[in-house]
Amino acid sequence: MADQPQQAHYHKLNERNFNQRTAKEHARHLLPYIKPHHWILDLGCGPGAITADLAELVPKGEVVGIDVDETFIEAGKALAEKRGLKNVTFRPGDVKTDLTTIPPSSFDIIHAHQLLLHLPSPVTVVLEAHRILKPCGIFSTVDSALRTIIPAIPGAIASNETYERFTRSRGADPNFGLTHHIVAHEAGFAWEDMEMSSWTMREMGEEGKKRIAEGAGPAAEGFMERGLISAEEAEAQREGGVEWAGLRESRWLEVASGLVCWKR
Ligand SMILES: C[S@@+](CC[C@H](N)C(=O)[O-])C[C@H]1O[C@@H](n2cnc3c(N)ncnc32)[C@H](O)[C@@H]1O
Repeated sequence: MADQPQQAHYHKLNERNFNQRTAKEHARHLLPYIKPHHWILDLGCGPGAITADLAELVPKGEVVGIDVDETFIEAGKALAEKRGLKNVTFRPGDVKTDLTTIPPSSFDIIHAHQLLLHLPSPVTVVLEAHRILKPCGIFSTVDSALRTIIPAIPGAIASNETYERFTRSRGADPNFGLTHHIVAHEAGFAWEDMEMSSWTMREMGEEGKKRIAEGAGPAAEGFMERGLISAEEAEAQREGGVEWAGLRESRWLEVASGLVCWKR
């Protein structure tokens, strides 16, 4: 396919971004409840940075990361090897279909970081998560919402709007963090068994801005190839991203909404 090199490049940039993540920061709402013997399933684990941190927190337990993207699964395996982790496994799988093969009461914790906001029917995944949790087990999710780009450089704003439009065009909700507790309730978790929290995603610093500048072109080209924007709009979005990332005063504010729910 003609767009393979472009996609591969963008995929690498995403991998680099996801590799910056830590359980301390990105599973902060869940950390107080993790016990050393817990069995944890990490849904949509990406290249495994958070998954590997979780494995270190459960030295007497096990962690399984699953992701539909086999390149990420291979990256996760390499990371586990590098960090000498014996209690984590990475498996390719689609959370929309493959959770049904897992027996009931298999895990103490099921965690999903920035996965459900990409899915057209997150409730089906949460229903399955509820089924495969042990009694008193915890379902945890983090989904973002309300991205604000400062200063309001038009190309950078347009890029974010295109991302949101793209996510909606796939039937998913880019602001799922605003309503994920309602979906968890629909999936069987009682209101009184939920704890909600929110924080803003970590300031990305100058390094993170460099990654945004590098990704602005490939992101815009990807949107263009999908027919969401014209070549002219793609160029404006690339320029906007690079301009925004080059400003010392620029900030990206995004609410990370965290939820933990206990199964009865
Ligand atoms: C935004 S990334 C988050 C990755 C990781 N949780 C992290 O925070 O670093 C979303 C991940 O979900 C995965 N994903 C998307 N749809 C999926 C599905 N249906 N089944 C399994 N994984 C999926 C993607 O491949 C991607 O790795």
